[in-house]
Amino acid sequence: MVAKIISGLEVSAAVKARVKKAAEELKETGVQPCLATVLVGNDPASTTYVNSKQKTASELGIATRDHRLAANFKQHELVELVQLLNNDQHVHGILVQLPLPSHINEFDIINTISPFKDVDGLTPYSAGMLQNGMAVLKPCTPSGVMELLDYYKIGVSGMDAVIVNRSNLVGIPLALMLLEKNATVTVCHSRTKGLADKLRAADLIITAVGNRQRFTLAADMVKDGAVVIDVGTSRQNGKLTGDVDFEAVKQKASWITPVPGGVGPMTIAMLMKNTVTAASVAKGMNQ
Ligand code: GUN
Repeated sequence: MVAKIISGLEVSAAVKARVKKAAEELKETGVQPCLATVLVGNDPASTTYVNSKQKTASELGIATRDHRLAANFKQHELVELVQLLNNDQHVHGILVQLPLPSHINEFDIINTISPFKDVDGLTPYSAGMLQNGMAVLKPCTPSGVMELLDYYKIGVSGMDAVIVNRSNLVGIPLALMLLEKNATVTVCHSRTKGLADKLRAADLIITAVGNRQRFTLAADMVKDGAVVIDVGTSRQNGKLTGDVDFEAVKQKASWITPVPGGVGPMTIAMLMKNTVTAASVAKGMNQ
């Protein structure tokens, strides 16, 4: 079997077109959607991500605030900045780029973000709402994965899904979203025993390790006809690569995402969607 390609470029373009239209409609009613990004330090990957988020927002007619802070910015200063953004009526979404420098308590910062402006879907409130099937703002990367599956009409009901990642950004929210769609979900991590056997039994594999030295999804870990979603990104000899041995696994899977051009563009598209959703909820509350 040769897998069909799940194109994040195609699906993100469709999502962004809808977001652009929604942003225009909001503007016609006097509301200018606005996303504030906060970057602490100058990690190259995080800088690239934030630049892309800023650029995409501008392309879709979403206003931006761009806070770039020195790596030694203090925790209490960051809390104050987030509170300032929480109280700014013109800001609808707040994105604090992760990871934060080690002297800052990530949970405390995320927990300061107003749930109404939590366009990353990472606050404890949003996480609890997701667990209850009631979330309005859901984490962007897992939402992007669900959007890809939906676009290509890949039904997950009854599937055995194996996720290789247990973070609050990806693995845990994705497990909840897949469960909501009636998949049977196994969440794996660095201490999982018999990972290859679990993967070989999976109908759907979602891997988000991002370190090819530690983990590569090889063809012999994939069942014939499995759906393979690659969320990992790492650099090998200067080239962007995912977790998956793409050329080999493509010969076994039924569907597969490439890297680049798979899940990556979806994360940003879903962030833009969340920003417009937050703006439209705020508009409803202000009426
Ligand atoms: N770092 C890597 N991915 C993300 C993301 O989706 N949101 C935030 N805030 N930081 C990240």
